[in-house]
Formats: sequence, C-alpha cells, structure tokens
Amino acid sequence: MLEHVEKVLIDEETLQNRVKELGRQITEDYRGKDLVIICILKGAILFTSDLVKEIKLPLAIDFMAVSSYGRSTKSSGVVRILKDLDEEIEGRDVLIVEDIVDSGLTLNYLLENLRSRKPASIKICCCLDKPERRKVPVKVDYVGFNIPDEFVIGYGLDYAEKYRNLPFIGVLSKEAYQE
Ligand code: IMP
Ligand code: MG
Repeated sequence: MLEHVEKVLIDEETLQNRVKELGRQITEDYRGKDLVIICILKGAILFTSDLVKEIKLPLAIDFMAVSSYGRSTKSSGVVRILKDLDEEIEGRDVLIVEDIVDSGLTLNYLLENLRSRKPASIKICCCLDKPERRKVPVKVDYVGFNIPDEFVIGYGLDYAEKYRNLPFIGVLSKEAYQE
C-alpha cells in the first residue's frame, strides 16, 4: 500500500497536534451549548473520532452519508443522501465534520438541507481545504490544513475505497491510478 504513496503531505504527528488545537478551540466556543457533531461518512470517520476525544464537553454524535453521482475523482454537484441523521437537530448547535472541501458543492448542499431543519446554529469543521478548487463559496469555520490542488489519500480519504486507513495524508502516485 505504501508504494502507492508518492509523498507524505501531512504526517501523523502534525495531524494529531492540529486536531488537539481544533478540539481546544471548539471546546471554548461550544461551552454551555447543545452540541451535535455530524460526521459525514465515510471520509470523516478518522478525523471525527480523533477530534471528539479532544472536545472536553458533553456532545452527541450523529452520522450522515452523502454521495455524488458517478465514481470519478471529481464531484458532479448532484448530491444524494445515502444515510440521514438518526436524531432531530431543531434548536441544537450543529457542527458538521467533513474530511475535505474541494468544489464546495457537497457542503453547500448539506448546509442548505440541514438549515431547513432549524438548528440553533450550524458550523463546519473540515480537516483539509483545497481553496483553489472552489466552485461555490462555503464558509468553513474550522480548517485543519489548507492544501494544494492534488488528489490526497489517507486519514479517512479514499481512492476507489482504498487507503482510508493510512494514519497520514499522502499524495496518490500516478501508477496507483492505473491499477
Ligand atoms: P466537493 O463537493 O467537491 O467539495 O467534494 C468533497 C468530497 O470529495 C470530499 O468529501 C471527498 O469525499 C471527495 N474528495 C475531494 N477531494 C479529494 C481528494 O483529494 N482525495 C479524496 N477525496 C476527495
Ligand atoms: Mg469521499
């Protein structure tokens, strides 16, 4: 599996340190609130599980799975809900946790959908941001790292459902695309 990693972009220690910082910041910002963490499956599972351990507050965790049509590495902008939340979010303080913001189309759709359920507040926390690729503006409240326009894998992110279990963020090698 490691032979498919062209280079390590963000190593494990750097990731974990940044997650701790984000956790501390979120802890300060959500004291006394009714925090619901919404983990966007599947990409955000590793980030979410590390992040919630660093948020020293009572909170609920819920999951949503969405998918763009097609299997390409580019988002089509058409978003389907594959799994919806288990709980109501009306009147609660929602924090969406996402792996990466690319075109912004997925989060744009999610924000609109979740806002219609009347949460008290709604914010976004993403591990990675590729600002150069934005097609629609999205306000991301907490960002782990800004990264250049390269296809990355690991720490939850996949290529054709593989590499999610790498503990770091890497750039996929050209050879791996062909396999
Ligand atoms: P957006 O709708 O274009 O912002 O796409 C967001 C989704 O595309 C993310 O949740 C990822 O699942 C996927 N994605 C975007 N860029 C990458 C990448 O570099 N590696 C792996 N998945 C990516
Ligand atoms: Mg994905």
